[in-house]
Amino acid sequence: MVWIVTVVLLFLSSHTICTNPALKARVTQQALDYGRQVGMQVLQEELKKINIPDVSGSTHVSVIGKVHYQISGIRIQAFSIAQSTVAFSPGTGMKLSLDNTNIAIHGNWRVKYSLGRDSGSFDVSVNGFSVSALIGMSTDQTGRPAVKSMGCSSNVGSLRLKLHGGASWLYNLFRSSLEKPIHSALVREICPKVSEAINSLELKLQRLKVTANVDKIAEIDYFLVNPPVITETFMDLDFKGEFYNIGRHQEPPFTAGPLSFPEQTNHMMYLAVSEFFFNSAAFVYHRAGALQINITDSMIPKSSPIRLNTSTFGGFIPQLKKLYPEMLMLMKIHSLKQPALTMTSDNITIAMTGAADTFAILPNSSLAPLFVLNLDVSVSATPSLSGDKLTGSLVINRLGLSLEHSDIGPFETSTLQGMLNVVTKIIVLPKINAFLAKGYPLPSVDQLSFVNPTIKVKEKFLMIATDIKYTL
Ligand SMILES: *[C@@H]1O[C@H](CO)[C@@H](O)[C@H](O)[C@H]1NC(C)=O
Ligand SMILES: *[C@@H]1O[C@H](CO)[C@@H](O)[C@H](O)[C@H]1NC(C)=O
Ligand SMILES: *[C@@H]1O[C@H](CO)[C@@H](O)[C@H](O)[C@H]1NC(C)=O
Ligand SMILES: *[C@@H]1O[C@H](CO)[C@@H](O)[C@H](O)[C@H]1NC(C)=O
Repeated sequence: MVWIVTVVLLFLSSHTICTNPALKARVTQQALDYGRQVGMQVLQEELKKINIPDVSGSTHVSVIGKVHYQISGIRIQAFSIAQSTVAFSPGTGMKLSLDNTNIAIHGNWRVKYSLGRDSGSFDVSVNGFSVSALIGMSTDQTGRPAVKSMGCSSNVGSLRLKLHGGASWLYNLFRSSLEKPIHSALVREICPKVSEAINSLELKLQRLKVTANVDKIAEIDYFLVNPPVITETFMDLDFKGEFYNIGRHQEPPFTAGPLSFPEQTNHMMYLAVSEFFFNSAAFVYHRAGALQINITDSMIPKSSPIRLNTSTFGGFIPQLKKLYPEMLMLMKIHSLKQPALTMTSDNITIAMTGAADTFAILPNSSLAPLFVLNLDVSVSATPSLSGDKLTGSLVINRLGLSLEHSDIGPFETSTLQGMLNVVTKIIVLPKINAFLAKGYPLPSVDQLSFVNPTIKVKEKFLMIATDIKYTL
């Protein structure tokens, strides 16, 4: 029942009701159609395992007399599903139906009567077999999705028997003694097989990880915060989508706003990733003190005429040359507030507030504090996808600086502007970009991958439209 796995495994589930999700997934009929194609092959194999027990008995046949018969080794050789549909069942889950299915059955027969004995084989073809099943989709109390069988019915069409060997009178005997057991075995076993497949999917879902590890600092919670919303044409799943400090869950002083999809159905799946997703990351990394970087002269490319030393800076701050001649400098940049990310149509802007503690490195390696600059930075981000991970890169829009504190007397900061722009461009941003390039894991499953995803920045969220591929 891979087709259900394909669809359901994408999603994880809920414990709190009425929380705004920071990540929302929409699954369309296209995904069901794809899942059906993949799943039907697997389903056909499963259904072939239906067991039809041996039959034996005796009956009276005119002219011949009493006949003992035994039918054994009955097995389904082929299950060809001519027509299958998987559709959403609004408010409930999904409906699966197989119609016009042909079943080829093979077996052996043996008879014994007063005048002798005989044996041979037979084929039965069942035409116009159909099954329909309703699968309920919900969430369980552990925050995972749940599926259960909500009903199943089958209809065995007509049977046609072909005997190999034996006298012609046997045909009528076997027709009546085979039809019933085959009919009832199919009726008895088909729906339990479907339930079994749904149960094994449910077991898989119970083992899903609802937390994705990002790095040593952060993890992302991906359980569903609301029950799935299922309409005629799509299913929406609301994921928590929040970053937390590993082992120390603390809510940020802001909450996720509502998320809704524009009407679109030409892809299998849509993902909306809200501003909150990223801002919760900013909150976690800022609180963990991870938004910091120490800049030394050795990090500046050899070719750059601007050096992080007291001669270069002394050109703008004359007293520096006198107090600390010919020394290298160190700049410790760290965030003062959590960066704030905002999304407008086709634009992601991040506002960062930080400080640069600046030191001279004395010949004995101890640090002499020089000054502290306040930094006010605006950057633009370009999101992208790498596999199933969300990545991005930043470019600088604006860098504002002011002197917070000086140990070497007052000086004019505006002269430092150009130099700091360069330092930010060639050192700080490449570091952040390298970090972002590692990517944030989106909720997904090992065997599922995105196919031709596109990403677009909307008002307050990112939208990813993608097809999916299931690899067995
Ligand atoms: C920067 O240097 C300080 C010590 O001066 C150290 O505690 C901190 O971990 C360093 N940060 C980075 C990102 O290397
Ligand atoms: C400082 O930078 C200047 C270039 O601006 C260079 O000539 C000088 O050798 C550097 N001094 C040290 C101590 O690295
Ligand atoms: C995005 O918006 C910000 C703030 O309004 C602006 O400074 C920046 O230039 C914009 N970026 C792009 C790529 O349009
Ligand atoms: C390093 O040198 C400075 C100035 O020469 C001095 O004030 C400081 O105490 C020295 N630090 C150490 C650890 O020797």
